[in-house]
Amino acid sequence: MSTIQVSPDKLKSLEECLCNFKGNVALHTRFRALFTLKALKSDEAVGIISKAFSDPSALLKHELAYCLGQTKKISALPTLESVLRNTAEDPMVRHEAAEAMGAISDPSSVSILREYLTDSNRSVRETCEIAIAKIEWDNSEESKKMQGSSSESQRFTSVDPAPATSSLLRRPPSSSSSLSTESISALQSQLLDTSLPLFKRYRAMFSLRNIGTPEAIDALSSGFADSSELFKHEIAFIFGQLVSPHSVPALLKVLQDTQESDMVRHEAAEALGGIATPEVLPHLREWMNKEDAPSVVRESCQVALDMWEYENSNEFQYANGLGSTIPITVA
Ligand SMILES: [Fe+2]
Ligand SMILES: [Fe+2]
Repeated sequence: MSTIQVSPDKLKSLEECLCNFKGNVALHTRFRALFTLKALKSDEAVGIISKAFSDPSALLKHELAYCLGQTKKISALPTLESVLRNTAEDPMVRHEAAEAMGAISDPSSVSILREYLTDSNRSVRETCEIAIAKIEWDNSEESKKMQGSSSESQRFTSVDPAPATSSLLRRPPSSSSSLSTESISALQSQLLDTSLPLFKRYRAMFSLRNIGTPEAIDALSSGFADSSELFKHEIAFIFGQLVSPHSVPALLKVLQDTQESDMVRHEAAEALGGIATPEVLPHLREWMNKEDAPSVVRESCQVALDMWEYENSNEFQYANGLGSTIPITVA
């Protein structure tokens, strides 16, 4: 993707907005500035995003880490490494830093990620496992062969934590229904098989995303019964990418489940904001205003409401001021 040029004044105002120097910028407005900076994919943008890690909001900080990974800039690695190494930081933020290192995919990150395979937090451990497998896969023969053949995954602009399963990648999503059903049930078996490495299960997950039919969404929803918070939050993230109303009942169930982890509920809230059908609105409002709900859930609903309003408006772009449309999936 070509880089977008902006004036120094515009960069300064994005920095003031994201870092909230004056203390009066709403969280969802800061998110919009962040997504604008992410789209710039420049070292200056990486520098500004890195500065905002002094903020108290775990939600904002995990999104900073996500966006740094999506820029694929090597210059983001020192910040991401220090976030991962900071064991006092919220695990959701550390997880996202490790995942971002996987997205940037520099071989130098492997030894750092290995140090955290025994981290006390399960999501951090599992993320490091997947990120290492991704970096190794990116340098494999299979990866080279698959380059340029992934017509389905080009629908999605994200750098994913795992590639789709290669043997099923070239099958068109609308191929004969028996083949499609067969593929979906084979992928669902891999998705749910806890004896397989997580990276392999993630590959099945992204294959199901690329198929994207209601049947594939049902198969993905069955993953919400898993015990891994990381695994479940990725399914919710994928639903945010697919923006299919078919996933709304499963996502609402996750958002409303007070026994579910904050990270999974947060991802469900933001997916619902992107899908933006009328029935999700009262639920987002309810959880945004619930005083005893975890702050990550409340803040996610605030951002999700802004996304909902954007999707239901005539606004041209979510991340504004660049004169081009920026696709959004809040992580
Ligand atoms: Fe995440
Ligand atoms: Fe997230």
